[in-house]
Amino acid sequence: MSIQTENIAALASRREKARLGGGQKRIDDQHAKGKLTARERLALLLDEGSFEEFDMFVQHRCTNFGMEASHPDGDGVVTGQGTIDGRPVFVFAQDFTVSGGSLSKTMSEKICKVMDMAAKVGAPCIGLNDSGGARIQEGIDALAGYGEIFERNILSSGVVPQISAIMGPCAGGAVYSPALTDFTIMVKDTSYMFLTGPAVVKSVTGEEVDQEQLGGAAVHAGKSGVAHFAAADEKEAIGTIRRLLSFIPQNNMEAAPFKPTDDPVNRTEDFLNEIIPDNPNKSYDMYGVIRSIVDDGDFFEVHRDFAKNIIVGFAHMGGRSVGVVANQPAVLAGVLDINASRKAARFVRFCDAFNIPLVTLVDVPGFLCGTQQEYGAIISNGAKLLYAYGEATVPKVTVTLRKSYGGAHIVMSCKQLRGDVNYAWPSAQIAVMGADGAVGILYGKELKAATDPAEKSRIAEERKIEYNDLFCNPYQAATKGYIEDVIEPRNTRFRVIRALDYLQGKQQSLPAKKHDNLPL
Ligand code: HXC
Repeated sequence: MSIQTENIAALASRREKARLGGGQKRIDDQHAKGKLTARERLALLLDEGSFEEFDMFVQHRCTNFGMEASHPDGDGVVTGQGTIDGRPVFVFAQDFTVSGGSLSKTMSEKICKVMDMAAKVGAPCIGLNDSGGARIQEGIDALAGYGEIFERNILSSGVVPQISAIMGPCAGGAVYSPALTDFTIMVKDTSYMFLTGPAVVKSVTGEEVDQEQLGGAAVHAGKSGVAHFAAADEKEAIGTIRRLLSFIPQNNMEAAPFKPTDDPVNRTEDFLNEIIPDNPNKSYDMYGVIRSIVDDGDFFEVHRDFAKNIIVGFAHMGGRSVGVVANQPAVLAGVLDINASRKAARFVRFCDAFNIPLVTLVDVPGFLCGTQQEYGAIISNGAKLLYAYGEATVPKVTVTLRKSYGGAHIVMSCKQLRGDVNYAWPSAQIAVMGADGAVGILYGKELKAATDPAEKSRIAEERKIEYNDLFCNPYQAATKGYIEDVIEPRNTRFRVIRALDYLQGKQQSLPAKKHDNLPL
């Protein structure tokens, strides 16, 4: 055998060893927990044969606690580049089989390298997290590594899409990298995120809680909103990442991919003419409206289990990717509360950062009142959504279906927040408040004076009719030019797509500033 042949054989054997990470026993342990290995995950994520690995032979430099005795190639993370549906992405996948995927300084250098490349090239960066946190043997070096990753998360924010999947433990300060990225996907039953684990919680607060209750996928997708998606298993989580990317551009200078469709742009939906109940206190399902107006009824919802009184997600309309924001009358009457405002604000800002037009469907009775909301800062949180819409410069098309009252009317992409095209259905009620509240305030004394209950109710009814005729309709707004048109509900798809078409060339900028100071 020639020296060169020997060299090549040695390379192949070294690669083979590196691919085993922490060894077959630990791979088996990983499988026994219902988890895939880092490499198996990447194989599912990326187009077949597209992965090019970087830094396969990088080793840690730690000499504490006997670490000098073992130098596994790759050091607990697989990094590189590949494609998803033919589009380049940069990836890192932590390998739990090597020191529990814990973060060493060299691991952070590998991760930072792909993050830097993603930012330089203008391609998404995807992290598959499965790690015991800072590598304890490395002390402050590991913390420095986290700091370097966080700084890159921040600098890349709004430049390239950043997506995090949590596929195992993610504890301590390590949770802040996913939190800084655009979307977080957790896997049910096998992943968790928390700042301090159950044992520390017990010793500090006395509270007894298990990992799942403290920071499992259901908790973060449903209660805290930290996770945007909770997948049933790793395969579904990876499918979610691939689908998500199909709606978003490679970077902030590009448009999202166009998706040709056979769904006619001028498709009408007669049932929309009947969907609004006669009784204003009755609800209907906004999902039905969304699915009927988007291409092929295909709506990809984000944050499905969190703040269900507002719906956000991606779809295509006339082939173009749009971000849909819609109040959900079927949950809490579609009221805006703290969580709904936070959820929608973050989504609106993502769409604006990445050139995705916004389609807003409004049926909102107002902001939720009460001490719980006030103490939780509904004022600042509601202002986040207001701010997000007001600063957004992407095309903004708004359709008011029914209620659009008070401050919530303004927040939901009204004309004065630089809404480009605002339509209303004939059932729209664009007013300071609904008739019940308004009559109680305007005619309170008169109603109090009426002692006969029948007389009281007659007066109230008369006044409500008067108020409804005057204010609870779209025409107050239409006569003043606050909306462009009152449209027949069945034509909504066509009208929105046509508006998006002519808004395609929209150019709008913000005043020069270092950065804004949105009400965080
Ligand atoms: C070094 C670690 C490690 C760590 C796990 N390992 N975490 N090595 N540093 N942080 C190693 C274990 O020693 C073990 O090595 C292997 O990984 C697998 O770990 P196990 O404990 O056997 O696995 P499991 O039972 O599944 O438990 C996983 C675990 C647990 C829950 C993650 O290992 C654990 O609690 N680890 C410590 C978590 C932690 O407190 N991290 C620091 C958080 S603070 P061997 O060789 O025996 O197989 C933090 C600060 C970040 O991260 C700050 C950022 C700003």
